[in-house]
Amino acid sequence: MKVAKVTLLAVLAALVAVGVATTAYSFHSGGVAECGGCHSMHSPAAGGTFLLVGTDQSSACLTCHEHAGDTGPASYHISTAPGDMPAGTAPLQRTPGGDFGWLKKDYTFVVRGTTINEDGDTHGHNIIAADFGYAVDGVNAAAPGGTFPSAQLACNSCHDPHGKYRRLVGGTVATTGAPIKASGSYTAATNEPDGTGAVGVYRLLAGAGYTKDGITFTGVPAAKVPSSYNRTEAATQTRVAYGVATTGGHNAWGTWCGTCHTGMHSSGNYVHPIDQGVGSSIATIYGQYVKSGDMTGVAASSFSSLTPFSTNSSDYTVLAGLAQNNDSQLGGPATSDQVNCMSCHRAHASGWEFGLRWNMEGEFMTYNSLFPGTDTTPTVPQFARGRLGAETQAAYYDRPVTKFASYQRVLCNKCHAQD
Ligand code: HEC
Ligand code: HEC
Ligand code: HEC
Ligand code: HEC
Ligand code: HEC
Ligand code: HEC
Repeated sequence: MKVAKVTLLAVLAALVAVGVATTAYSFHSGGVAECGGCHSMHSPAAGGTFLLVGTDQSSACLTCHEHAGDTGPASYHISTAPGDMPAGTAPLQRTPGGDFGWLKKDYTFVVRGTTINEDGDTHGHNIIAADFGYAVDGVNAAAPGGTFPSAQLACNSCHDPHGKYRRLVGGTVATTGAPIKASGSYTAATNEPDGTGAVGVYRLLAGAGYTKDGITFTGVPAAKVPSSYNRTEAATQTRVAYGVATTGGHNAWGTWCGTCHTGMHSSGNYVHPIDQGVGSSIATIYGQYVKSGDMTGVAASSFSSLTPFSTNSSDYTVLAGLAQNNDSQLGGPATSDQVNCMSCHRAHASGWEFGLRWNMEGEFMTYNSLFPGTDTTPTVPQFARGRLGAETQAAYYDRPVTKFASYQRVLCNKCHAQD
């Protein structure tokens, strides 16, 4: 059993090393993977449960999804090992969901005589993975706006480890029916259901009836992503095409996140609009906004993966067409396309507080044509926030500073142009 597991891991590591595309080999293949990848019948992790290969659920996942020795974005890795991100450097993964390694990045700096500690905990979802140094969130006892206990937050709070949810021909999602033949996340024709089988739901996410610690999901969110998604955005952007819920078993993205964050979503709660059409004025602004002080953009090339939105469709063929990483699909929102939680947050973690896609803690994202850092001039502590300029750039997935204005204000302006 142990030998089999080690062999599997070695093969996977070798494949990552040579850069084989995600779909060229597989483990989950959109559904339940080889049991032995996560469970061991006779030599499970000591002190663990469910015969898992890790001390806890998330540690079992991270035996593959974190790999010591990474030197850059590595396929399906969503966490950087501490040794690969020493002080003064950023985590390495650049996935749409974000690198959990940011949770281990604490920053301390002094603003006008006051010492500020920006705890890594505040950078996103604190999954508990004892074998990998991830501990319960130090601030929130439960999901803000809901009841889900932080002490139970794990990969399988959001992902179904057994990947039972499948998308059938016609678009309905169910836990039974045609067998799952492949992942449903990617853009190839083979990632769509047909007469031979169903496909897994986007990212094996939890669907209707999935119950954990007092919450029950009511549907999966729709999306498509290019199969090469863990990559620098220095040259071209990685576009996830988020969709809406019109076929059975689906939920809008905000409703899905709202399963645990009920109060952050429902109307009448004084929260930002979610899962609603952006309307014509915001669609126009999004199309024109290039950067602070520059409204000369054209809608067809206005998309930013720092402010994505849901396309008003649950036709996965439409979404697949939009999910590109070569800048061929950069259209801004139509009036009926929706603002969702992902417009501002990453699902796992980010370089910024509250898992936001950009820094909201100061008025400038760039300053004097530089990414603010303790090593850039002039140094403004409240914009540098204890980081080097290169760490700031990494949190924007390596975009060149020229993508922003010399004095760029926060990206709320991409939709609101208040700058
Ligand atoms: C991707 C990792 C992964 C794979 C692959 C996997 N499991 Fe699991 N399994 C888990 C996790 C995590 C739990 C704990 C679930 C929880 O905390 O509720 C679990 C729990 C279980 C349980 C106990 C309770 C339950 O949730 O039903 C059984 C039985 C089980 N797995 C069987 C299997 C079998 C059989 C296979 C292969 C066909 C398999 N698992 C493949 C991760 C996995
Ligand atoms: C034995 C190694 C291994 C383990 C353990 C493992 N994974 Fe994976 N995971 C992979 C590989 C390889 C891929 C990419 C290929 C694929 O999707 O089959 C992947 C892909 C994924 C994807 C994207 C799938 C898609 O279709 O979009 C998700 C989500 C995921 N894993 C979650 C988990 C979770 C949650 C756990 C723990 C419950 C886990 N993995 C445990 C190896 C592993
Ligand atoms: C709060 C819910 C949540 C938790 C907890 C969570 N995930 Fe995810 N994960 C998501 C969502 C949502 C996406 C899709 C993100 C997107 O496309 O924007 C995702 C995407 C992924 C992907 C695809 C790559 C990426 O980052 O986009 C992998 C692999 C993955 N998750 C594995 C894991 C593992 C392993 C854990 C635990 C260490 C975990 N997830 C914990 C919600 C979660
Ligand atoms: C399974 C329950 C669950 C789901 C689903 C879930 N969250 Fe959370 N979320 C939590 C818990 C628990 C916390 C508090 C622990 C923490 O902050 O790490 C939290 C915290 C947060 C925070 C604050 C992070 C911080 O560092 O202060 C944000 C932002 C957030 N969630 C956004 C989202 C978004 C966006 C989604 C959908 C992609 C989502 N959540 C889905 C359980 C969930
Ligand atoms: C328009 C951008 C935007 C959207 C859309 C958005 N958020 Fe937030 N969210 C923020 C900002 C900014 C913060 C930081 C705190 C603040 O300003 O209220 C935040 C904070 C949070 C927090 C932490 C609150 C706390 O008290 O610690 C949670 C949880 C959260 N958001 C969840 C969600 C969920 C779930 C959705 C979708 C239903 C969502 N957000 C949609 C911008 C957004
Ligand atoms: C992806 C586009 C998008 C982004 C990014 C965005 N918003 Fe919005 N915002 C909207 C939409 C759509 C509405 C609803 C507009 C309407 O009803 O006319 C809205 C409404 C608002 C409102 C008015 C709410 C009300 O009840 O009247 C405020 C205030 C606001 N946004 C602030 C922000 C802030 C602050 C940020 C950055 C943290 C932000 N927005 C980022 C799209 C966006």
